[in-house]
Amino acid sequence: MKLPLARYMLRRVQDQLLRRTAVALALPLTRPASIHLRLTDRCNFRCQHCDCWKLPREHVQHELDTAAWRDVLAQLRRWIGPCAVHLTGGEVLLRPDLLPIVERARQLGLQVQINTNGSLLDEDLARRLLLAEVGIIMVSLYGVRAETHEQLQGVEGCFPTVRGNLERLAQLRRQLGASTQVRAGYLVTRSNLDQAEPFVHWAARQDIGVVFQPLYENLYRPHGPDWQRDHPLWPEDQAAVARTWNTIGRLKRAGLPVVNSHTFLRAAQRSYDPANRFARACDVGASMLVVDPQGKVRFCYIGQPFGDVRDAPLEHIWRSGSARRRRQEARDCNRGCRVLYCTTLHKSVVDRSRDVLAQLLTEVRS
Ligand SMILES: C[S@@+](CC[C@H](N)C(=O)[O-])C[C@H]1O[C@@H](n2cnc3c(N)ncnc32)[C@H](O)[C@@H]1O
Ligand code: SF4
Ligand code: SF4
Repeated sequence: MKLPLARYMLRRVQDQLLRRTAVALALPLTRPASIHLRLTDRCNFRCQHCDCWKLPREHVQHELDTAAWRDVLAQLRRWIGPCAVHLTGGEVLLRPDLLPIVERARQLGLQVQINTNGSLLDEDLARRLLLAEVGIIMVSLYGVRAETHEQLQGVEGCFPTVRGNLERLAQLRRQLGASTQVRAGYLVTRSNLDQAEPFVHWAARQDIGVVFQPLYENLYRPHGPDWQRDHPLWPEDQAAVARTWNTIGRLKRAGLPVVNSHTFLRAAQRSYDPANRFARACDVGASMLVVDPQGKVRFCYIGQPFGDVRDAPLEHIWRSGSARRRRQEARDCNRGCRVLYCTTLHKSVVDRSRDVLAQLLTEVRS
């Protein structure tokens, strides 16, 4: 019983040391652990917190086709092994070839996570994704009240569809006995602080896990260092923010389905303190790989590209001289959005021990 825990801890310490060295020296000593494939930047929603729907038309053209994405997946399998890939966007369900891309990833033995606004997740597609054994499907849903969600997503009348599609997905998962984890992504803004608790209770009844997302500056739009000051969704009431994150932590301790680790919840709470600047170097250069819809490769959604999958294999791009320069920039970047990507937030020893114990208990029970 003690050995798996010891082995697990030793492996984590080794990973950490290698990762820290890779970040400090800006060298490709590691392979990416968090892989985001942005299949499209098109979207059918008009969110207040994301500007992808404002991108000019020419920007969203010339997306990689099905064959090119299949090739990216095959490269990842050869280079990294049976890793996990996040399929995201934009709104990924707007890609008519989503299913063939997912099926290819599964054939290659990759784990798949899909992030979606849920509006197009009809019964047929939900069933097919579950049968394809997608690992995680996360639907963005930002409250228990229709007006809150619809205001944030900028689409009148979308709440019943999104919530209904998510509930049906969870139901189908149970009926089919599928291994997929069904999750709701809940962005914490000034307008939904008070709905976090009823939301978690609703999710528990539906057998849905909740991922709380701290607000960050709008994706796709460069902001200044004081972006919080002008952001319309930024919560002014710091006491209410603290209460909300404390409540979320309490619900998690009580066994309700909050997916974030306690370490993450604490860091997320700190990220709402405008004076807070994360002191540690950002480690996306050692851990994260983002391929955008046109094939450009970055370390994070905001950083500059350092290669293009149309021109070179991913592994070469990762080790290239331009990657080295971007790695240095990422290490020295002070934008402080690490909580969002959760790459520097390694779980605490307590969190890790809890995970291992939970895993052991599951094994013993089965
Ligand atoms: C960019 S969206 C793309 C997937 C899909 N369209 C959706 O909305 O779920 C991916 C995730 O980023 C989150 N997100 C978008 N803008 C954000 C922001 N400004 N701060 C924090 N999270 C954000 C969304 O809640 C969503 O779960
Ligand atoms: S967060 Fe998702 S749903 Fe909202 S505009 Fe961005 S891509 Fe679209
Ligand atoms: S802090 Fe890290 S994740 Fe954020 S923009 Fe800078 S390099 Fe990217």
